[in-house]
Amino acid sequence: MNKFIDYSRVVRVPEQGLSIAEENSQEIGNDYPLKSRIKNILIPEFVIKKRLQAMARQIASDYKKTKQLYLAPVLKGAFVFAADLGREIVRCGGPEIRIDFYETETYGTEIKKEGEEKRPVNIIRRPDIKGDSEIILLDDICDTVQTVTTILSDAQDSLGIDRSRIRICFLLEKILKNPFPDVKQLKERLRPDYIGFEVPDVWVAGYGIDAGEDFRLLSCIVSVKERYYL
Ligand code: IMP
Ligand code: MG
Repeated sequence: MNKFIDYSRVVRVPEQGLSIAEENSQEIGNDYPLKSRIKNILIPEFVIKKRLQAMARQIASDYKKTKQLYLAPVLKGAFVFAADLGREIVRCGGPEIRIDFYETETYGTEIKKEGEEKRPVNIIRRPDIKGDSEIILLDDICDTVQTVTTILSDAQDSLGIDRSRIRICFLLEKILKNPFPDVKQLKERLRPDYIGFEVPDVWVAGYGIDAGEDFRLLSCIVSVKERYYL
């Protein structure tokens, strides 16, 4: 069992979850009401924190010369990630940061069905971004790339923000088992600038991310028993 994790690069997470040293491992208490719907703990809270610290150092260094950086998290899934990453960037001496939100909806109270290709993404809210600041779009998961593709064209068309000012940061990138050819092509064309973890093609939740609105405030990232949400 390899318990060493290199936090300075993207961490790949297996389907059974990361194995880490005992003192950092995490259990879900029996009093957690949704415990029976959880398959595995994929990423313990401690590991998320360590990886975010490394990502924040990278971002602070990349934007050393920037006067003002806008974080544009995508609600709701990225709200916990954005709060933690943003504060880490400040802690390690990054640029002045502003934050405002996109809000989109894709799945509502559902989850992705087996063999489903992609769903339209509705934009519910746009951020108010002043001046010509640099922007990092923060999202929870890169799955079929529809959300980020929709937002990038919206930022250009509705907010007049040039693509060159925007970098893309995902907490998780899903490694798709059988991507549809156009999704595969889109994914290859649109490479994110920052990725926290690579996760398997299963439904994940926790740390801001939901399964049918469940699990958003769980501190770690888990895989869920999908039959409860189909
Ligand atoms: P996209 O397919 O890359 O556009 O991802 C759409 C959105 O679906 C993501 O921003 C997530 O909010 C959501 N999503 C995709 N996969 C999962 C998952 O495994 N759990 C929870 N939400 C997911
Ligand atoms: Mg989302």
